[in-house]
Parts: sequence; structure tokens; C-alpha cells
Amino acid sequence: QKAPTINLFGKEYPTDDWTNINKSIQDKLERNLIHQKYHPLNHLVNKIKHFFYKNYINRNGNPLFSVYDNFRPIVSVEENFDSLLTPKDHVSRSKKDCFYVNKDYLLRAHTTAHDNELIRSGLNCFLTFGDVYRRDEIDAKHYPIFHQCDGVRLFDKNELFRNAANEMDIFEKDPSNLKRTSEKQKNYTLDACKIVEYDLKNTLTNLVQFIFGTSSKINMKWVDATFPFTHPSWELEIEYKGNWYEVLGCGILEQEILTNAGAENHIAWAFGLGLERWAMILYDISDIRVFWSTDNGFLSQFKFDDPTHTKIIKYKPVSVYPPCPIDISFWLPEPSETFTYNSNDFYDLVRDVGGDLVEQVTLIDNFENKKTKKTSHCYRIVYRSMDKTLSLAEVNQLHKLIQTKAAEQLGVKIR
Ligand code: PHE
Repeated sequence: QKAPTINLFGKEYPTDDWTNINKSIQDKLERNLIHQKYHPLNHLVNKIKHFFYKNYINRNGNPLFSVYDNFRPIVSVEENFDSLLTPKDHVSRSKKDCFYVNKDYLLRAHTTAHDNELIRSGLNCFLTFGDVYRRDEIDAKHYPIFHQCDGVRLFDKNELFRNAANEMDIFEKDPSNLKRTSEKQKNYTLDACKIVEYDLKNTLTNLVQFIFGTSSKINMKWVDATFPFTHPSWELEIEYKGNWYEVLGCGILEQEILTNAGAENHIAWAFGLGLERWAMILYDISDIRVFWSTDNGFLSQFKFDDPTHTKIIKYKPVSVYPPCPIDISFWLPEPSETFTYNSNDFYDLVRDVGGDLVEQVTLIDNFENKKTKKTSHCYRIVYRSMDKTLSLAEVNQLHKLIQTKAAEQLGVKIR
């Protein structure tokens, strides 16, 4: 049974049908990885801040971008979705994909959740860094907590056209151009959109070149994308050691967001990127769980000072211990008031019980018994520790516990 309240950061929040934050997530809320000196994510955050501090200086010689890296990850549904124009029925809002505190609050699914409030407070240029939370499958590249950096830059007419030879406008006056196209939003001029697009892409390619390309030129390509909060939108892919990686999403912020936040005479760009993804490419880290390791073999490799923010090291896996795969099969419960089965519930439960000893969970078989109409799922759970060889007894005990809890909490019948 669910407790009537859940304690997060020392505060009690009432629970309801939406509450789905488990103990393993709760335990990690205050780890604060990006603020741990010498942690690889901390190195990366410092590099990104340095890039913006060095290259963007205002008239008074101060940094143009202000940095917010201390917001608590609990945000309202309004901040995470509505303020960013995410449709009410958008899949990203689902309980399957987010960690809800209750029906009104959740652990932010992206740092973009703070954009509206920061614009409303009058800022024109800012960066936010923070931990974000998404329910997901389990493998070397996915973890339910990761970290993001978001950036926003607003322009007014003077700022945008400061280098223009003749008079130009942000807002379209010609009625025949008052329409949304693949290149622009309805009310903005094509000129304004093109200049903002250029500034955005230029900023981000320079950032990527600074972070990844200390000694060589990085190949990049822009790919069209869609987000509820930007139009047009793009993703940036980079080539690194022969592989292409998608490293960020960005676009021109929807005008409605600016208007709602009291910045109606402006046009703005926005971007968001995943810090683990960048750090894994940069430092050659192949398993996302290591960011949470408290093992000295991991942390000691990053114990260096980097005053110029250009140092790149290659991470050597501490040691590779053998994986231990075991399968689990069960009949799903018939959908009812109490149980509606979805795989993410099972992944969460496995994480809750197995913690970081679980490397991967994959659905390997899914069939329906034609006679009884019952569905059976078989998952392969790969147990592996980052720090030692697991004994069979240890793994079996864990596996038994997962079976018991799955039967109890999800209503499945172990086969
Ligand atoms: N919030 C988006 C994500 O998490 C990234 C993004 C931010 C895209 C800002 C466009 C603008 O994937």
C-alpha cells in the first residue's frame, strides 16, 4: 500500500494515483553529481560554462549568460509540459515515462522546464544545468536519471539587427507573409528567423568544436526535428572516431511561449543537451552506470585540475567482471482495477531491487496462449557489478527477490 505522503528533500508531498517514485530514485535525489569536484560531469559542466563565459561578454565586460545549476528537480506539470505547449494528450506526459510525485508535480523530464520562469523573470540569456528523470529500459546507455544543459537567448529588434545595413523587423507586416512555413513561425519575418537560426547554429557548432575538437576539426550535420516548444527545430549530429552521434536538440522558441512569459517583443533560440551522452563520447565511457559509482578506481581517473578547460583524458574501465544472465518468465495479470501491466513498471521494480547490479533487462519473448488468452513475457536480466565478481548465491538471492516482488506488486504469475 502507498504511504499517504512521500518525503523529498525533507518535505512531505501528498501521494495519489499518479505517485510512482521508487526508493532507488529517492535515494539518489541528493547525490548532486554535477557539483562533485572532479566528477566527469562536473568537468564537462565547467567546460561548457567556460565556453559561454569566454565567448559571450556584455557591454560592461560581464558574462552575457547567467547560469542556474541549483534548482531542485521537482517541478509542476505546468512547468514541465503546459508552459512549453506540450499537448494535453502528448505521450511524453505518461506515467509510463515520467516519475510523478503526484498528479500536479513530477521530477523534471528536462531542464527546459525552467525556461518559462527564467524568461518571465526578465533574463535574456541563460543556461540551466540539472538532473532529469525518465522511466526507461535498462541497458548500458539508459539510466532513469541523467543530466542536461539547456540554453536560451532572446533578441529584441536592436540586438538582432545591430549589424544590418538597412531597417529590418522581427515582426511581419506584410499580410501575405503572415503564415507558418517550414522555415519560420507565423508572426516573425523570414529575415529575423534566418539570423536567429544562424546565431543558434553558429553558437552550437563552436561549442561542439571547443569541447570535442581540441586538436582536430569535428564533422557535423544538422537534421530537421520537431519539439512542441520550438519551430523550426533541429538536431545536431557529430562524427567522432568513425561513428555519428546525435548530441543535442534546438530551435527557435515558439513565440507564444515568449508572449506568455511577458517578452512579447522578442525572438529567441533554445537548445538542450544530455551531459552523460557528451561525457561518454568525450571520455570513452561505455556504461552509463559508472557515473554513479563511488568506487575510487573510477573517480581517481578524473582527479585532475583543468584551468584551461581543454584537457581530455580517456577513461579505462576499472576492470571487467563477468556478466551473469538469468531469465524470468511470467503470465501477465488480466487488466483490472488493481493491475494494468506495462514493461516500465517491471524495469523500475528490477532497478529498485537490484540497483546498479543490474546491467540490462530485455524482453526476449512475448506470446499469447490462444486457448486461455493469457500473455506471457520472458525477460533476460543481466546481473553485473562494476566493482567485483558476483557470486551465484548473491545473484540467485536477488533474482528470487525480484520474482517475489513482481508477483506481489505487479500481479504477475511466475512460470
Ligand atoms: N528538451 C529537449 C529534450 O529533452 C531538448 C530541447 C531543448 C530541444 C530546447 C529544443 C529546445 O530532448
